Amino acid sequence: MQKLSWILNIILIIIIGAMIYMFLIKGSTLKSEDGRTAIIINDAERNMMLGDMRKFLENVQIITVALGENDMEAIVVAAENVGLRDENPPPSLIAKLPLEFKTMGMDTHKAFDELAGLAKTDGDIQTVASALGNILINCTTCHAAYKIMLEEE
Ligand code: HEC
Repeated sequence: MQKLSWILNIILIIIIGAMIYMFLIKGSTLKSEDGRTAIIINDAERNMMLGDMRKFLENVQIITVALGENDMEAIVVAAENVGLRDENPPPSLIAKLPLEFKTMGMDTHKAFDELAGLAKTDGDIQTVASALGNILINCTTCHAAYKIMLEEE
């Protein structure tokens, strides 16, 4: 009897471990033929994610112009547009995203808040420009590693 409950415990631990791996670490993913990890989501989730992406790029564009014009106020506004307060994916999408992807996404939003802080406190255009350059490494790193694939209807 005691032995049986041991075995049941071990099986339970394995199942819980597998669930943690699936839901928290791996997400809903496949290896794709171009070497990237494909995140499998539905049409609405894809539209939401790509909309956020375009918002990233639109604000990077505004910040780049503002850097050329030494306009720190415009930099603060644009960076805060894509700061952490802009990050609120629905739970259904969160469950499908791999942990590394979520971390990189959060870090990117946070880095824009830090950029806004830098533009507020440090008037040096070069410091702000190089901070933006560092944020862009997040964009290129994630794009090199992940793509979207649509769920079968
Ligand atoms: C955590 C991962 C991640 C980060 C960080 C990230 N992206 Fe993306 N982005 C993606 C994925 C995944 C796609 C879809 C690519 C695909 O399916 O080929 C995408 C697509 C895009 C697109 C295409 C949008 C469309 O409508 O097709 C743009 C533009 C974009 N990203 C801009 C950015 C910019 C700018 C940054 C940095 C400020 C950034 N992204 C950061 C994951 C990321």
